[in-house]
Amino acid sequence: MLSGFRAAITRRGFATNSTVKGFDGAIGNTPLIYLKGLSERAGAHIYGKAEFQNPGGSVKDRAALGLVNNAEKLGLLKPGGTVVEGTAGNTGIGLAHVCRAKGYKCVIYMPNTQSQEKIDLLKMLGADVRPVPAVAFENPKNYNHQAREFAESLPNAVWTNQFDNVANAEAHYETTGPEIWAQTQGKVDGFICSTGTGGTLAGTGRALKELSKGKTQVWIADPPGSILTSFVNNGGTERSGSSITEGIGQGRITDNMATFVKQVDGAFTVPDEKTIAILYELLDTEGIYLGASSALNVVAAYELAQKLGKGSTVVTILCDGAYRYQSPKGLSGAIPDHLKKYAVLD
Ligand SMILES: Cc1ncc(COP(=O)(O)O)c(C=O)c1O
Repeated sequence: MLSGFRAAITRRGFATNSTVKGFDGAIGNTPLIYLKGLSERAGAHIYGKAEFQNPGGSVKDRAALGLVNNAEKLGLLKPGGTVVEGTAGNTGIGLAHVCRAKGYKCVIYMPNTQSQEKIDLLKMLGADVRPVPAVAFENPKNYNHQAREFAESLPNAVWTNQFDNVANAEAHYETTGPEIWAQTQGKVDGFICSTGTGGTLAGTGRALKELSKGKTQVWIADPPGSILTSFVNNGGTERSGSSITEGIGQGRITDNMATFVKQVDGAFTVPDEKTIAILYELLDTEGIYLGASSALNVVAAYELAQKLGKGSTVVTILCDGAYRYQSPKGLSGAIPDHLKKYAVLD
């Protein structure tokens, strides 16, 4: 049994003595980190999938590769082609890397309210960055619509459409879910994470539900200001408050989320204060320095473990590292006093 399991792991590329082909080959197969302190406190087994170890630095490398591979498979993208996306965040970084690795041009539309650092990083990775006025989705000048129109105007170009192109969730169905299943040797009582496009939750959740024959519970963790908690719990679209987290929270059911939302077992909202406190606690006790969406996920994993009971195993996603973000100055009151030494507050 064990040797069969080892063989399967080796085939999937976990073996330390294996090599991978190029940037694409280095995406995925991330470690599953046992969060010791938190697990002890919860009386449960809490694991974080170290997606910050992807070569572009975030969980979105998987989506970027899946979207580009799918466009190639459908014959929409040929050598020398152009990939266009509307994004200010990690998907753009993932796409910029994947495009360099595969020889495509990468054009990124984003609202002109985004920081200069984000623009500079994408440019440094070779992307053609186009900041456009920050207007609502209903306005045809919204950055997403401009991205689509630009791709439509060019030959051999594709708008990857991360929110509603289900190749995003499919990438997680094919990789993230089966990896977690193998790494826990098939013992996952609960999986929970927050969602932006919904690709990670929907794809990983669907794989784990299938592999466990329905036994793994899959929950959504929501930041304030998102509708998903209301949607899952009572079919509503209520939202209140706002959040310092980036890349997560949603005002609609994306096509990626729609592939799985009916199978979700539950959802709850995590206040920013808890997210910030655990962000510094994870640095202090585990030595892991994470972005806010990951910290929110860890709070949620702890709370789901409490619901599922003593000895349960709960997995979440550690989406990216903290290095891409500024200190949360507005919420310094949420940092426990003994952890304030880690935050740059002046
Ligand atoms: C930091 C971070 N966390 C979480 C997510 C959410 O992932 P998904 O889009 O798969 O729902 C994103 C998405 O961009 C992100 O950038």
